[in-house]
Amino acid sequence: MNNSQFLSKCTADVIDNAAAQLIAGHLVAFPTETVYGLGADASNEEAVRRIYEVKGRPTDHPLIVHISSVNSLHKWASDIPEYAIKLARDYWPGPMTLVLKRTSEAENFITGGQDSVAVRVPNNSVAISLLQAFESKGGKGIAAPSANRFGHVSPTSAQDVFTELGNYLSIHDLILDGGKCAIGIESTIIDCTKETPQILRPGAITPAMIQKSTGLEVLIEDKSDIRVSGNLEKHYAPQAEVFLDQIPKAGQAFIALSDIATPEGVVRIAAPDTAEEFSRILYESLRRGDTLGIREVVVIQPIGYGIEIGIRDRLNKAAQGR
Ligand code: TXA
Ligand code: MG
Repeated sequence: MNNSQFLSKCTADVIDNAAAQLIAGHLVAFPTETVYGLGADASNEEAVRRIYEVKGRPTDHPLIVHISSVNSLHKWASDIPEYAIKLARDYWPGPMTLVLKRTSEAENFITGGQDSVAVRVPNNSVAISLLQAFESKGGKGIAAPSANRFGHVSPTSAQDVFTELGNYLSIHDLILDGGKCAIGIESTIIDCTKETPQILRPGAITPAMIQKSTGLEVLIEDKSDIRVSGNLEKHYAPQAEVFLDQIPKAGQAFIALSDIATPEGVVRIAAPDTAEEFSRILYESLRRGDTLGIREVVVIQPIGYGIEIGIRDRLNKAAQGR
């Protein structure tokens, strides 16, 4: 790909052209409040197949369908339980993905052959404008996984998308630059196909928030028979080896909350003040460690049951139990 495909000013014309490229079957990487997504027309099998090629991701892994508002939900999902409607009303647009029974619009190439579909309304002005322009041209939804190569750290800036995928995108594909992602880790995925909501991937929408919205007990299931690619052994992983909750040694990189001091000789790559800042800068910090050529990074996990659960989930996958 070349520079003209990297669009740093997302004017209405740029967005309209990007929507047209999606309709034509090309790929558009775009910002969301969580991480950048690699988008394709979710109704176009050929276009969706290219997502898998560019990511190097196994084709039986299902994708999230992004829509502009809850009003489009019925196109993709049926038999929507009352509690899922409550969640959608309370937290969309936002960092939450709902897994629901699919309609015939959600074909096997989106769902990985499962009878459920994952849907999300992102809370980012570029993403929403793109979705609205796409829908005004007859599009029904944009399938978008995180815009990284399979198993790697998700990108939280357009430059990170270019670094990950620049070599794999074609001359018709685009990257929309919407600045840095506000949340920094992927959306909370909630299985809404059962009697009660079940968290498949923790994120910024916390168990307490789900409980408050639905009045129901929330299950957090670690071992799910549903295919979530993040549940594979190694995921969200930088090139460096990640070690958790140890005292860092000289030469190692170090990420911890700002009230934890840096031992001598250790390369401090992040010192966030809050859990929210921790999540926002985690992936870019891991990338920076790789850029610096550091082989080992120690992370002290944040304590707490809000977004900290999501942070620990990603760190444990990146560390593979180290
Ligand atoms: O924040 C996010 O969710 C970002 C932004 C771009 O929206 N997207 C994202 O997509 O993280 P991806 O593909 O990297 O992760 C989505 C996860 C995958 O692990 C996939 O297996 C799971 O969602 N998923 C998709 N459809 C599913 C379904 N029907 N049932 C269970 N899990 C599903
Ligand atoms: Mg991903």
